[in-house]
Amino acid sequence: MRAVICEQWGGPESLKINVLADPVPGPGQVVVKIAAAGVNFPDVLIIQKKYQIQPELPFTPGAEIAGTVTAIGENVTHFAIGDRVAALCSVGGFAEQIAIDAAKCMKLPGALSFEVAAGFVLAYGTSWHAVRDRAALKPHETMLVLGAAGGVGLAAVEIGKAIGARVVAAASTDEKCALARAHGADETINYTNEDLRAGIKRSCGGGPDVIYDPVGGKYSEAAFRSIGWRGRHLVIGFADGSIPAIPLNLTLLKGASLVGVFWGDFARREPAAHEAGIAEMLGWMKQGKIKPLISKTYSLDEAPQALVDMAARRVTGKIVITP
Ligand SMILES: NC(=O)c1ccc[n+]([C@@H]2O[C@H](COP(=O)([O-])OP(=O)(O)OC[C@H]3O[C@@H](n4cnc5c(N)ncnc54)[C@H](OP(=O)(O)O)[C@@H]3O)[C@@H](O)[C@H]2O)c1
Repeated sequence: MRAVICEQWGGPESLKINVLADPVPGPGQVVVKIAAAGVNFPDVLIIQKKYQIQPELPFTPGAEIAGTVTAIGENVTHFAIGDRVAALCSVGGFAEQIAIDAAKCMKLPGALSFEVAAGFVLAYGTSWHAVRDRAALKPHETMLVLGAAGGVGLAAVEIGKAIGARVVAAASTDEKCALARAHGADETINYTNEDLRAGIKRSCGGGPDVIYDPVGGKYSEAAFRSIGWRGRHLVIGFADGSIPAIPLNLTLLKGASLVGVFWGDFARREPAAHEAGIAEMLGWMKQGKIKPLISKTYSLDEAPQALVDMAARRVTGKIVITP
């Protein structure tokens, strides 16, 4: 089979596409023929040794996949050849096939395409855990979403609206703002053209109750200075590349909280809560309350380009690789 290989730490240009032996399922595993693999910002970081998980070299990046079961190992009873599944694999997704623990796979509802399934669990799972679970956003509250047209950002916009809250979307271009509006945002702030604090004052009255922050850098402190009383600032990630240091006195002045979010560990430590989140969102999807956007698909050979586009801030919604 063909697979993307990271042989040395570095940018997407150092990735190779190699031919490897077809995987064989071990005990408790299935082999999945990958139809689509979701691309996430952590894929950009992991190949540069900048992510909290650092696999041994060489490895294949790609943290989530969807496809068809083609082989079954010993002791696997609840999957059959031909089943459509999605799985979180951490690494190994940018390939034609993967051998993976059956426990990590979920059967796909018939209506869900492989592309949507491959781009759904990580981004929407992160935003559900953050918004619903960690911040406990209420229908009468206002949430500000930074980087609102990106993968986790657009998911947060949709989840905020599904909860019934008011959502203010902040992004770097008018096109990204328009996309967030098309996915439900009530107001937008283009933080390239407008000072972020002025935009928050204009659109959030007494300040947002919840701030969803996957961007970091200079935006975090500016947003936190504008947060409302008893506000919750969700620390999701640092796509900007720099980790801000926020003065602690700001928490005291607003009775506000800085709330860390680590979805991967949440899903591992609290699998029942994670599954409840996925079930709630599949229900919202059926009702048309959330509509995950797959904005572009790339071939396996184009996987390095997909990561270049993501690092260059050119991606909206989710992108997937279709081997
Ligand atoms: N905590 C967790 O459990 C968890 C889980 C998943 C992802 N994450 C983190 O969440 C962040 C977003 O992930 P994602 O997959 O949604 O990525 P994404 O689709 O690329 O979205 C990131 C957004 O950040 C903004 N951004 C600002 N400066 C940027 C820069 N220098 N380079 C790239 N983007 C920049 C962009 O929006 P504008 O152009 O509008 O500013 C972009 O849309 C990453 O830091 C990721 O590591 C955390």
